Amino acid sequence: MVSPPGERDAAILGPGRLGTLLAAALTRSGWRVRAVGGGQPEARARLAQLVAGARPCDDVVEAARRGRLVVLAVPDDALEPLARELALAGAVGEGRRVVHVAGSRGLEVLSAAARAGAGTAGCHPAMTVPAGSTDPDLLLGVAWAVSARSADRGWAHALVTDLGGEPTDLRDDVRGLYHAGLAVGSNTVGAAVVLARRLLLAAGIEDPAAFLGPLVRASAANALEHGAAALTGPVVRGDVGTVRTHLDALERDLPELADAYRSLSQVLLTQVAPGLPADQHALLAALLSPSVDTPS
Ligand SMILES: NC(=O)c1ccc[n+]([C@@H]2O[C@H](COP(=O)([O-])OP(=O)(O)OC[C@H]3O[C@@H](n4cnc5c(N)ncnc54)[C@H](OP(=O)(O)O)[C@@H]3O)[C@@H](O)[C@H]2O)c1
Repeated sequence: MVSPPGERDAAILGPGRLGTLLAAALTRSGWRVRAVGGGQPEARARLAQLVAGARPCDDVVEAARRGRLVVLAVPDDALEPLARELALAGAVGEGRRVVHVAGSRGLEVLSAAARAGAGTAGCHPAMTVPAGSTDPDLLLGVAWAVSARSADRGWAHALVTDLGGEPTDLRDDVRGLYHAGLAVGSNTVGAAVVLARRLLLAAGIEDPAAFLGPLVRASAANALEHGAAALTGPVVRGDVGTVRTHLDALERDLPELADAYRSLSQVLLTQVAPGLPADQHALLAALLSPSVDTPS
């Protein structure tokens, strides 16, 4: 028989990238992580080693029973069935709080826990957490999007503040746009940098980061501050000849990357279109159409 958890006892389900970091961050801010469930036994053991007093449990229900706060840090698609399993087993009811950390999902995935009487919230940190991250400082000053009913808003905001974050309320029905924005800002920006790196390596530059580092950081900072007005380069200038030389070089040396260049440049063209003369815009649009022969 598990004794009732204390006010600041937490359980983590999902000992992956974010779950492990949250265990460390909760512990530093005075929470007691009493149990870890889900995932592989090795991952649970790693988390338990990081956080004194955390018991690795084979059964997610047993783990959840040990936390007043139950943090679900599992893949987004696993949230709804997991919350249902915990609610059916009576592990998350009156007096418990269940939080998920997925950006793409609102409160609906926790509705079984809410029906069982638990407080529920979706609290998403706008930060990328790679495997092996255990330093809670990674979460300091990070913006978190919080979805919670008014009865749960207070503790959800307090939890984020405990973790060093800055909570902002977000309606459930805009989570799709919100998360798409973050995915573009993080994942596709990363993909563009990887593409740029490959081009420089192909050009014989041994240390692409030396060239790209300051440029990428300055471009991102300027775009964050000024939006489309900060964009520069041949597409923005309507410099058709330069874009053509890029595409010629790509088609000759790295044809498999030419369409990626076109796609990214089309995004740029869409943003700056209102400022370009119609004839330059038409030429660029034709050059950047996917998989057409480069007009000479
Ligand atoms: N990492 C980030 O940068 C980041 C940032 C913000 C938010 N998030 C959110 O955090 C959540 C977890 O993401 P993550 O990147 O930490 O993923 P992750 O590293 O893959 O960790 C997920 C953990 O959940 C376990 N798991 C999978 N299915 C489960 C289930 N049905 N029941 C219990 N445990 C299960 C996994 O075990 P296996 O390894 O055995 O599959 C793994 O231990 C997601 O909602 C994600 O959107 C992540």
